[in-house]
Amino acid sequence: MSTLRVLIPAEKIRTRIQELGAQIDRDYSGGGPVYLVGVLKGASVFMADLARAMKTPARMEFVGIASYDGKTSSGEARLTKDLDHPVQGHDVIVVEDIVDTGITLAYFLQVLQQRKPKSLRIAALLDKPSRRKRQVHVDYVGFEVPDQFLVGYGLDYEEDYRNLPDVCILEG
Ligand code: IMP
Ligand code: MG
Repeated sequence: MSTLRVLIPAEKIRTRIQELGAQIDRDYSGGGPVYLVGVLKGASVFMADLARAMKTPARMEFVGIASYDGKTSSGEARLTKDLDHPVQGHDVIVVEDIVDTGITLAYFLQVLQQRKPKSLRIAALLDKPSRRKRQVHVDYVGFEVPDQFLVGYGLDYEEDYRNLPDVCILEG
């Protein structure tokens, strides 16, 4: 039997996202629209809240990325759904639920750079730095988390638990 233990309650997430929204507004003051590019499916919940926590005009795009185990040195990830609109010449913030090994993000940043955005930053609700295999700089981090398997607020275990309002540790 697996059990759930709350790590970050919904209220703390809400407060932190308001702070991130304010930080983004300061960084892009007077600018926009900023292209928020969410990585499906995990980032969808965070992106919906982050987009509404910022006053800077934003557009919302989603991509799908399948990542593999990281046993090969290249081609560990591929796009399963591309952007609907080009981001060339625009300010882009990639939105992720969690940065773990960094393999997914490192791959996607490389893809996006080729699309020549005006600027490119990263927002991740959760950062698990202890597991990093690829160096990626996350500009907007919600919370640094320990090396435990987390679910809720968009994160899943075999597609379950995404709609939990809290970030929870899945044990057992
Ligand atoms: P990375 O490529 O290892 O950085 O992993 C990125 C993706 O793996 C995230 O976008 C999540 O979908 C998934 N992931 C990593 N850690 C967890 C976790 O603790 N719980 C649920 N999904 C996770
Ligand atoms: Mg994901």
